[in-house]
Amino acid sequence: MSSTGARGPIDLRTDRAHPARIYDVFLGGKTNYPADRAMAATVVEKMPSAQLAARTNREFVLRAVRYLAGEAGIRQFLDIGTGIPTSPNLHEVAQETAPESRVVYTDNDPIVLAHSRALHVSSSAGRTAYIQADFTDPDSILTSARSTLDLGQPVALTMGLLLHWIDRKKQPHAVVRRLMDALPVGSCLLISVFARELAGGSATLEDDFAAEGTSLRPFTRDETLRFFDGTDLLDPGLVAPYQWRPDTGAQEIGSPDAGPDASATPIWAGLGVKR
Ligand SMILES: C[S@@+](CC[C@H](N)C(=O)[O-])C[C@H]1O[C@@H](n2cnc3c(N)ncnc32)[C@H](O)[C@@H]1O
Repeated sequence: MSSTGARGPIDLRTDRAHPARIYDVFLGGKTNYPADRAMAATVVEKMPSAQLAARTNREFVLRAVRYLAGEAGIRQFLDIGTGIPTSPNLHEVAQETAPESRVVYTDNDPIVLAHSRALHVSSSAGRTAYIQADFTDPDSILTSARSTLDLGQPVALTMGLLLHWIDRKKQPHAVVRRLMDALPVGSCLLISVFARELAGGSATLEDDFAAEGTSLRPFTRDETLRFFDGTDLLDPGLVAPYQWRPDTGAQEIGSPDAGPDASATPIWAGLGVKR
């Protein structure tokens, strides 16, 4: 199957499992193919709580965006590794609180481009844009983002479940640093990543994804904390996603202190503010 992007026809490689489409399987979406569903089944076999983990991650991202647009007063968002549009999308949550919010979405998977129309339906007071680009090319992302965002004003850089897909040779820490260096003090950094310590069976999953041509490298807690250098990590710090400021009554998975339950959601999640 193919779609048309800026560079002409693009092969969606539906014969291979792609992270964006596997995540779509876990979120109960319909934008996925047999290869994605087969890989999702393999992931569940090795990590039975994978679907729960994906959903609690999504809830974390949206809770944090609600906080950013509300209490924190952020009006600009740069979301890298957006994923296939899903309801609600990040801009819908931000604009519900602050209709003037501007959101730039970025992903490198052509299936996201093919479905990006849903990301362009902005409130009339705000703006949204979609950039087809790779995280490992931060300068081109920043250049394109300037058409929509004022990089002289605070921006929330959001990267939900993106960084573990980046080959370590591409130096993900240096790329995040480059992006944060381009944003002013008061900008925010939201990250969630696959957690090495919490992910039983992840070593063999790395091999499964390598066979599909995709690098999967979970991060330790210390490696994840390094992404937040130069920021003040907001309470409750780097935690499993369901532990990050849970909505009242939304703690079916466990209390914030329940260590053993964190293994059900093997993800580190946090939000920092640039100082
Ligand atoms: C699991 S989805 C996360 C969706 C969303 N951020 C969330 O947390 O709900 C990860 C996304 O990262 C994208 N991605 C992976 N490597 C990327 C790269 N090098 N540049 C840009 N996007 C990338 C994938 O295509 C996929 O859509």
